[in-house]
Amino acid sequence: MGRCSRCARGLLPLPLAGLGLLVAVLLLRTYSSPGPPDWAPGEGEQREEASAEERARWKEVLKGAIRIPTVSFSEDEQNTTALGEFTEYIRKVFPGIFSCSFIQHEIIADYSHLFTVQGSNPQLEPYMMLAHLDVVPASDEGWDHPPFSAQEVGGYIYGRGTLDNKGSAIGLLQALELLLKRKHRPRRSFYVGLGHDEEISGQKGARRIAAKLESRGARLSFLTDEGLAILDGVIQGLSRPIAMVGTTEKGAITLALSVETQPGHSSMPPRETSIGILAAAVSRLEQNPMPNLFGSGPEKASFEQLASEFSFPINVIMSNLWLFSPLVSRILERKASSNAIVRTTTAVAMFHAGVKSNIIPPSAGATVNFRIHPAQTVDEVMDIVTHTIGDKRVQLTVGNAFNPLPVSPYDEKSFGYQIVGRTIRDVFSDIPVAPGVCVGNTDSRHYLNLTRNIYRFSPIWLKPEDLSRIHGLNERISVQSYELLVQFYLRLIQNADVEALPMPHSEVHEL
Ligand SMILES: *[C@@H]1O[C@H](CO)[C@@H](O)[C@H](O)[C@H]1NC(C)=O
Ligand SMILES: *[C@@H]1O[C@H](CO)[C@@H](O)[C@H](O)[C@H]1NC(C)=O
Ligand SMILES: [Zn+2]
Repeated sequence: MGRCSRCARGLLPLPLAGLGLLVAVLLLRTYSSPGPPDWAPGEGEQREEASAEERARWKEVLKGAIRIPTVSFSEDEQNTTALGEFTEYIRKVFPGIFSCSFIQHEIIADYSHLFTVQGSNPQLEPYMMLAHLDVVPASDEGWDHPPFSAQEVGGYIYGRGTLDNKGSAIGLLQALELLLKRKHRPRRSFYVGLGHDEEISGQKGARRIAAKLESRGARLSFLTDEGLAILDGVIQGLSRPIAMVGTTEKGAITLALSVETQPGHSSMPPRETSIGILAAAVSRLEQNPMPNLFGSGPEKASFEQLASEFSFPINVIMSNLWLFSPLVSRILERKASSNAIVRTTTAVAMFHAGVKSNIIPPSAGATVNFRIHPAQTVDEVMDIVTHTIGDKRVQLTVGNAFNPLPVSPYDEKSFGYQIVGRTIRDVFSDIPVAPGVCVGNTDSRHYLNLTRNIYRFSPIWLKPEDLSRIHGLNERISVQSYELLVQFYLRLIQNADVEALPMPHSEVHEL
């Protein structure tokens, strides 16, 4: 989750308590979300139990992977020695996968991996699971246990990548290795894609894996990747943990602003300098945030589907967004973390100007990073920016820019969403599942030509204090959490073997 670290901070604190809005009609309208499909009892119940020895080995395999510093330092600098070691490592620790007759392994762009698992029934449309093996840099400073030591302390394995996202990369392969050991051949074919440069855009790894599959004419039933997670206490007002599955991710624009003026001497300054003009422009952007779009994107569905999980009176408010949207949207924008889900955000990231105290600088430059709300486009944001700045002396140059990703379906008939949802409920004791918006970006965006059904979910349990560990200090995963992560992928592979979803809940009741 390079940037997707921030996904987890998706939705947030609602200091709504105390609003005594007791109107009977509101209670009557309290939303009842459509239930998940009625799975026949026993369907896909061939649960694979792992022995204590197997589980002990799982965590040792993870530790070994964490100790390989597969760091992406910058756009064009990665630890290629470590990336190469990672390839050798997975060959060594997953002998079943690398010797299996129905699994093909390919190295893409030198360090990324594509596994093709041929299911026994070629009629079933394949799906794909992604993870990435590169991590952001970390120095020993500030860590309780060094970031590449993988020390196990108090039931936690410490290390860069435990949460983002090597845990999933290794966990996925671990699940597959166990199935092979049990002589289980999946019915539905699937791909596993492990990118090596997600933290620096995925232009080499994910992009080339996707291009390779596209050149072979592949289509995917659905795609899973890192993203949102199980949030325990992260959204205030919820009485229990919930799982959020990212059905879209925000777009982005990196915009360079520059102002050129005549150079001069500080003793006879003009009325306005390049710095003053640019500072005023940047200030206008900060003073005039992009419109609050709460309700026009998929974030509304998140709240509606979770409505009944909130305590009173928030449940009434969330069930009646037809009335309370304006109120909720104003509350959400108060905190940076929840503000990010209601609007396109404006972040002034860089400012360069001036060289010497007695020189009027001829130029000043700034870089502003926008993260685009799913209901807006790059062009719409640029129109607003131009209008807000309202000064032709400020030159605008658009760097990297892309629109928000299309919203993947999450209704009762969406095969991928329901398989992921069912797997979450199977493994994490029936917790509620809701769609959400990733405010960061993932490798999955490179696969749009292969499927529109993309689900961004990391099977990890996050408490509020864990959010800052991702890309931060003391990133760690509990041994128990890691075992559940492996179980998640194991179960996902088994659940995806059904030919079709059972009939949706609502239709069953209409019969
Ligand atoms: C790169 O990885 C190698 C092999 O694991 C390691 O020995 C080396 O210290 C790493 N280099 C940097 C700069 O982190
Ligand atoms: C998807 O296909 C279009 C048309 O062939 C191509 O231009 C585009 O680059 C592809 N997108 C990705 C993300 O590969
Ligand atoms: Zn990541």
